[in-house]
Amino acid sequence: MPVQDFEKIFQEKIDNEIKIEPKDWMPEAYRKTNIRQISQHAHSEIVGMLPEGNWISRAPSLKRKAILLAKVQDEGGHGLYLYSAAETLGQSREEMINDLHSGKAKYSSIFNYPTLTWADIGAIGWLVDGAAIMNQVMLTRTSYGPYARAMVRICKEESFHQRQGFESLLVLSRGTKEQKEMCQDAINRWWWPALMMFGPRDSESTNSDQSMKWKIKRKTNDELRQNFVDMIAEQIKTLGMKLPDDMLKWNEERRHYDFGEINWEEFWQVVKGNGPCNKQRLVARKKAWDDGEWVREAAAAHAVKRNKTKAA
Ligand SMILES: [Fe+2]
Ligand SMILES: [Fe+2]
Repeated sequence: MPVQDFEKIFQEKIDNEIKIEPKDWMPEAYRKTNIRQISQHAHSEIVGMLPEGNWISRAPSLKRKAILLAKVQDEGGHGLYLYSAAETLGQSREEMINDLHSGKAKYSSIFNYPTLTWADIGAIGWLVDGAAIMNQVMLTRTSYGPYARAMVRICKEESFHQRQGFESLLVLSRGTKEQKEMCQDAINRWWWPALMMFGPRDSESTNSDQSMKWKIKRKTNDELRQNFVDMIAEQIKTLGMKLPDDMLKWNEERRHYDFGEINWEEFWQVVKGNGPCNKQRLVARKKAWDDGEWVREAAAAHAVKRNKTKAA
């Protein structure tokens, strides 16, 4: 069959909401885009464990420690599902990890910001996991089967992450003067980076059109960002806190909140590796990889031994 026919069958499947599976024919660019997006997503889950892991030993109570431990472990699990989903497209786990360590592969810039106080852990759950959910709920319907199925499971855990973050901030927002200030300060620092998580404006986003046609994405960056602002602008009323944006205002005509402009200079600086913690994160990841060498060796040796016993 000529390639054009394969392409036609492929696009028809997409148009008819039939998932693309690992052994199906797919355009090279579709494969590449998915590998890039899924592995980037996997890296984000794994690197995202670092700023929060930083607070496990300092959580203010046993209850908070148990919740945070569970959440950080969930993120590790998300990374593993996603690496597996990317592997079905023909990229090895090792190549993906190498690309992360060499700086060739990106991960979400949000994890290059530091966690300065306990309230940051609440703000991350509420705002960062909240922004991630907006994107991930859409991805449960993405066209590549293994990615979509991984996202269904991930989203269930993400909604717990967001709720625990909000609840933790709610306690602080009803606490002492210092706790209230700490809560507001964390919101002030995480709000804009959270908005940046949706990526560049649609007008500047290079991959958007093709990704929409292939139903890898189903909503644009600006649409998702607007949905997020609308959700958080309402939820913050319960906290009795303020979002650090003087332009934030309900627009009756649009039936959406208007909001101020993101600092795009800061956005691109962090993407390029010049955020507050970029270097620190990569050093920590590489160290974890090196320290885990003996575990990988032991697991491989055990597998060889077990196969020999089976064969005998
Ligand atoms: Fe996650
Ligand atoms: Fe999460």
